[in-house]
Amino acid sequence: MKINVLTLFPDFIEQGLHTSILGRACEKGLLSCNVVNIRDYSNDKNGRVDDYTYGGGAGMLMQAQPVYDAYKAVENASLKNNCEGENHRIRTIYVTPQGKPFTQKDALNLAKEDELVFLCGHYEGIDERVLEEIVTDRYSIGDYVLTGGELPALVMIDAVSRLIPGVLGNEVSADIESFYGDLLEYPQYTRPEVWNGMSVPGVLLKGNPKEVNAWRKEKAEELTEKVRPDLFEKYKQREHYIKELLKDKRNNIQMLESLRRGTGEIINTDPLVIYMACDDLVMVDINRKMDVDEFLSLLPDGVHSIVVGQEFGDILKDVEGIHKSCDVYNYVYTENVHRKIVNKDIRLLTEEYADYVGTHYELAGYDYAVEKVREGIVYGIFVDNEIAGFIGTHGEGSIGMLYIDERFRRRGLAADLESFMFNRDLEAGRTPYGQVIIDNVNSIKLQEKMGVYGGDKILTWLHL
Ligand code: ADE
Repeated sequence: MKINVLTLFPDFIEQGLHTSILGRACEKGLLSCNVVNIRDYSNDKNGRVDDYTYGGGAGMLMQAQPVYDAYKAVENASLKNNCEGENHRIRTIYVTPQGKPFTQKDALNLAKEDELVFLCGHYEGIDERVLEEIVTDRYSIGDYVLTGGELPALVMIDAVSRLIPGVLGNEVSADIESFYGDLLEYPQYTRPEVWNGMSVPGVLLKGNPKEVNAWRKEKAEELTEKVRPDLFEKYKQREHYIKELLKDKRNNIQMLESLRRGTGEIINTDPLVIYMACDDLVMVDINRKMDVDEFLSLLPDGVHSIVVGQEFGDILKDVEGIHKSCDVYNYVYTENVHRKIVNKDIRLLTEEYADYVGTHYELAGYDYAVEKVREGIVYGIFVDNEIAGFIGTHGEGSIGMLYIDERFRRRGLAADLESFMFNRDLEAGRTPYGQVIIDNVNSIKLQEKMGVYGGDKILTWLHL
């Protein structure tokens, strides 16, 4: 991801960006940072960038012209302009106490972009006209006022960057920490066993994984209830629906897993509607229909896909702007599936295979497949160092994108790839599942061979 920062204090930003984990991400090329000094674009001979506020009032305001010219310089050098030859709008974030509160959900959403611009204000703010011209999002990091936008911009950059695959080094750690699943993280301890007369809790010293997990959950619940009753309410609601959805796990796995993995947010309860910001997706209880206008009014900005039961899907497909893409069955891993340790040559695919994956994955198109490779969620299987096929995880969490090259079929490679993905999900504490188009006979056969259980209700995918 390329991050541009427009600021009057470039040293401040450079320091923050080149320290610790962000610094390493820059060195590894996972992040590239471009810090632009707005003062360099001042037309004033003394480099002045501020002036008095029309209508009176204390303090000075940053003028429109230097900010606009600094932004234009970034836009002209933008990755989007260079790569695609088109002038796409880069998400440009103005950090301001008057913005929307910045949350983990926003971080997930911004982490999907290839390039971002952060605009840092100073003095009393920035002339509104340039903000209207260039800014796409306004965010605040909290209900307090800081002396400038540099610290908030660094806070947001940190929260976004750690979600980029490879930045944390440990892929799993980003999705099990605080704010996933609406619980604050439990207390943790390291050596020595006794410090200042205080001992590490006995259950952690004993190290029985089941007991440790139960203790951690209890502590996380206690802490959240005490410190963040608002979050605790959401957590209890989530737990309630998890229990409900478990009653028909095979048909509900897509909603269930989004709540368990903490990627879904409940936006309606009767019927249950879940929004997954990370995939611009909305899912509705598959046994329910609702009034179309009421449903449309629930959709957050930017929603791209909808998953509903077949009956409601038949109604929605006739709504203007919505088109049906496919009907699927869920396939859900259960304890009965034989867990196979795969010792084939399976590798995470890097950019050099993006074109191969794009060319061979037909269902959702070239661009979709290439994006998944870039997100670091497609694995390839190799035979004698030659790629023989691949598998991936869709944005909402289901295993899919399975492809085996004609020359390598009937050798069990598809089953190997599936087993590999099952193991990855299970190790990360997730229930593996996939969705199969209802007439994809080969894939259904594979699921049955693997012992994976299919749902008996048809789900319809629609796109806006
Ligand atoms: N600039 C000054 N205070 C801020 C805040 N709380 N959030 C974002 N930008 C700011």
